[in-house]
Amino acid sequence: MIESPRLLLRRFRPDDAPVLAVYRSDPDIARYQSWASPITLTEAAEIIRGYAEAQPEAPGWFQYAIELKVDGRLIGDFGVDLHENRLQADLGCTLAPAHHGHGYATEAVHAVAGHLVAQGLHRLSAHCDARNTDSMRVLERAGFRLEGHGIEAELIRGEWTDTHSYGLLARHWKGPSAIA
Ligand SMILES: CC(C)(COP(=O)(O)OP(=O)(O)OC[C@H]1O[C@@H](n2cnc3c(N)ncnc32)[C@H](O)[C@@H]1OP(=O)(O)O)[C@@H](O)C(=O)NCCC(=O)NCCS
Repeated sequence: MIESPRLLLRRFRPDDAPVLAVYRSDPDIARYQSWASPITLTEAAEIIRGYAEAQPEAPGWFQYAIELKVDGRLIGDFGVDLHENRLQADLGCTLAPAHHGHGYATEAVHAVAGHLVAQGLHRLSAHCDARNTDSMRVLERAGFRLEGHGIEAELIRGEWTDTHSYGLLARHWKGPSAIA
């Protein structure tokens, strides 16, 4: 549904459940996320059934599966939360640990941002735990600007955590050349 040089962002399928269950259950991957972890295979299948009901053009979250074009492997997921006005969206990306450090998240943010800007969106945003430096680097490489630091703004896994808020206006989107 959205393509980049190395990635295909597509709808989740039932056979993605085993891979989703493994990376969502990894404590390092779940550390800064609000979703339940660990999860069973049955729970992963249920989550994917929920994703199947969402539509990317409708307000609310749509979760793309991130697939490596070279071998068709599922390597993570990418969430887009389209606001009611259909002119703004929040983004979030997760990769299985074996696929960190190759620029895939940066490439996915780039592909999704380009797609949404082309669809006429005015503004994109993303929020992450203030300790999540990997996520911050991805957003900054893609041209997002740090706009705010919320103090103990979210309760994640029983802990009040600081949040960094990032934004990108469509008119500031520089396209492919912004990504190294
Ligand atoms: C957030 C997350 C997706 C970032 O993953 P990541 O692997 O660090 O990010 P990328 O895939 O873009 O890889 C970037 C790294 O690959 C390197 N890299 C290698 N080849 C590259 C290429 N061709 N293009 C760009 N970068 C490349 C970059 O230098 C960079 O390394 P650095 O961070 O040491 O500078 C990952 O940490 C994750 O899944 N975390 C858990 C879930 C989570 O917290 N998500 C955030 C929600 S807000």
